[in-house]
Amino acid sequence: MLSVEEIKGKLKALNAEYAKIKDIPVEDRKAFGQELNKKREALQAELQQAMDSAESENIAPIDITAPSAPNQDIPTIPRGSRHPLMTELDRVVDIYSRMGFDVMEAQQLDDEFHMFESLNFPEGHPARDGYDTFRTAEGFIPPAHTSTMQHRALKKYKKNLESGGRIAVVIPGRVFRNEDVDATHEHTFYQCEGIFVSRGTTMGQMMGLLKNFFETYYGQNLNIKTQPGYFPFTEPSVELLIEKPKSLGGKGDGWLEMLGCGMIHPNVLKMAGIDPDVYKGFAWGGGIDRLVMLKYGLTDVRNFESGKLEFLKEF
Ligand code: DAH
Repeated sequence: MLSVEEIKGKLKALNAEYAKIKDIPVEDRKAFGQELNKKREALQAELQQAMDSAESENIAPIDITAPSAPNQDIPTIPRGSRHPLMTELDRVVDIYSRMGFDVMEAQQLDDEFHMFESLNFPEGHPARDGYDTFRTAEGFIPPAHTSTMQHRALKKYKKNLESGGRIAVVIPGRVFRNEDVDATHEHTFYQCEGIFVSRGTTMGQMMGLLKNFFETYYGQNLNIKTQPGYFPFTEPSVELLIEKPKSLGGKGDGWLEMLGCGMIHPNVLKMAGIDPDVYKGFAWGGGIDRLVMLKYGLTDVRNFESGKLEFLKEF
């Protein structure tokens, strides 16, 4: 391909040809002129092409893998960060993993059987209403708690029991409830479920494990206590409370309800094909949002799902 300068030279020479028109016999002038115009158009197109490619050759190369390199003519892009709930959920799961728990991920769409029947809520059971459950037009259920995973987890890990071992699994997940939203209630939040089953499981082990979890998460000794609760899938059922730590603004007299727990109901074990006369288990489930709010002294749960950058930038 000719250079820009060469084509410009040719164009100049061509323009000089036009001066000859006056010497051409009148009857030939038209054809002569048309021929010159054709050549000129072709040269002009060639010139444009040569100029375009010369221009792109002159552009300095860009390192697109370095979007914020200071000497490059590219606007800097503010870096995003992980959502605080995801960071804290990792911490929660990490604590349980170090205690020997496996991790399973919860589903975000489930069904009536896993939400209720498998958890010993027979049809028409009044406690079903307590869960403000959303339903899709097709009858699927965005889970209202991570307990919907219990039946699956028990079946998946049952073989551990058959070979003399135990079931120890935690299941973090996103859950949904059709309730009015305010500073302490969200329609979408996170929970972490836990299940432990073995031959000689006791409620004392459950209390020890949960106390240990909260003390590790908050990095200090804590007082815990239980109060009676009711869940169809545990018997007995309790709610676990921790005394609000002084470092987190506690005055030694405030108790906070952190999760629901209890000994797994024999019907739940039976439905998963586990003999309740041989094996005992405990299970627990609690909100992650609340755990994190207490850790950072946050007062409005709605911030988590809001996408507000001023909030997210604080973490
Ligand atoms: N799923 C219950 C809720 O969201 C909490 C819960 C209570 C989970 C007792 C459990 C349990 O595993 O054993 O209200």
